[in-house]
Amino acid sequence: MQRSGKKTIYGWTSTKEQVELTLEKTIEQIHQDALKELESASDEESIKAISIRYLGRKGAVTQFLRNISNLPEDIRPEAGKKANETKTNLDVLFKKTLKELDTSSWKTDDQIDVSLPGRVTPRGSLHPITQITQKICAIFIRLGFDVAEGPEVETDYYNFEALNIPKNHPARDMQDTFYISKNIVLRTHTSPTQPRIMEKQNPPVRIVAPGKVYRCDSDLTHTPMFHQVEGLLVDKNISFGDLKGILTTFVHQMFDPETSLRFRPSFFPFTEPSAEVDIRCVICKGKGCRVCSKTGWLEVLGSGMVHPAVFENVGYDTTRYTGFAFGMGVERIAMLKYGIDDIRKYFENDLRFLRQF
Ligand code: DAH
Repeated sequence: MQRSGKKTIYGWTSTKEQVELTLEKTIEQIHQDALKELESASDEESIKAISIRYLGRKGAVTQFLRNISNLPEDIRPEAGKKANETKTNLDVLFKKTLKELDTSSWKTDDQIDVSLPGRVTPRGSLHPITQITQKICAIFIRLGFDVAEGPEVETDYYNFEALNIPKNHPARDMQDTFYISKNIVLRTHTSPTQPRIMEKQNPPVRIVAPGKVYRCDSDLTHTPMFHQVEGLLVDKNISFGDLKGILTTFVHQMFDPETSLRFRPSFFPFTEPSAEVDIRCVICKGKGCRVCSKTGWLEVLGSGMVHPAVFENVGYDTTRYTGFAFGMGVERIAMLKYGIDDIRKYFENDLRFLRQF
């Protein structure tokens, strides 16, 4: 029998609307039942059990969804939509209730005393070498220098050639290093920052360049990696007197205004004349001790007037400009400042050592 154009497939007595209504009531009932059960659940176990009863593999909502495929095709989408909404709704609710249970137990769990003071996260501090590097740079910044940096992996050209150290020059012997490839090295000093800066900038130049350097060396006073600070000043009419003035001011600020200095003739291929700078031993004040090998003097840095060949390599006019340069080992300065006799201590990462700074 067919009523007012409705298909018989819904049965003798039901219209499409009636079937839909029944389905809607059924899923709504399931929803309400679940909510009621959840209301009286107070622990994790029972909430999970309810979740399984409704959303588990054999759960009420799951069964309902599974049966949808047996329904007439034109009411499947609506029934599916309602059931899926219920499923999502319950799923969110179960999860939320479980989460709240989790945090609400914090307040009541007598194993945790929320009035206890918090655990303090230990604060780190700057490594002594970083501290000394910053101190050195700060002194030169006050004297009008800028801070520049160059790469640790350097070309043979900047590390040696541009600094007037040609291939096979004996000066290369003192700076044996780690080769990345034939023409790429780990820089042996911070001096390559000199030509790098001068290539980019016309005089006046006034920079310090701190950084890591590498050499094949390892004993009480040498580590394969160490730190240097390079200095370079180029302008018109710069003389050796300016070099002496700047370095004396530096030593007085770094150590003690009473510390005397001496400039000893030396050789570096990139400076002419070159000088090694010694300071009165800060340990024995010049009387002679183990640290200064009984000489009363300590060597702290290398320096000199920039060699014209270096200026030519970067295209500076040697008739107009002169300049001075210097380079110092940070570990050496730090050892003297803190009275440490073994350089390796800086890099063993022993906290008992590091905490003292
Ligand atoms: N680069 C030299 C070294 O590591 C130190 C040095 C000496 C730097 C004289 C300079 C300088 O700038 O003028 O042994």
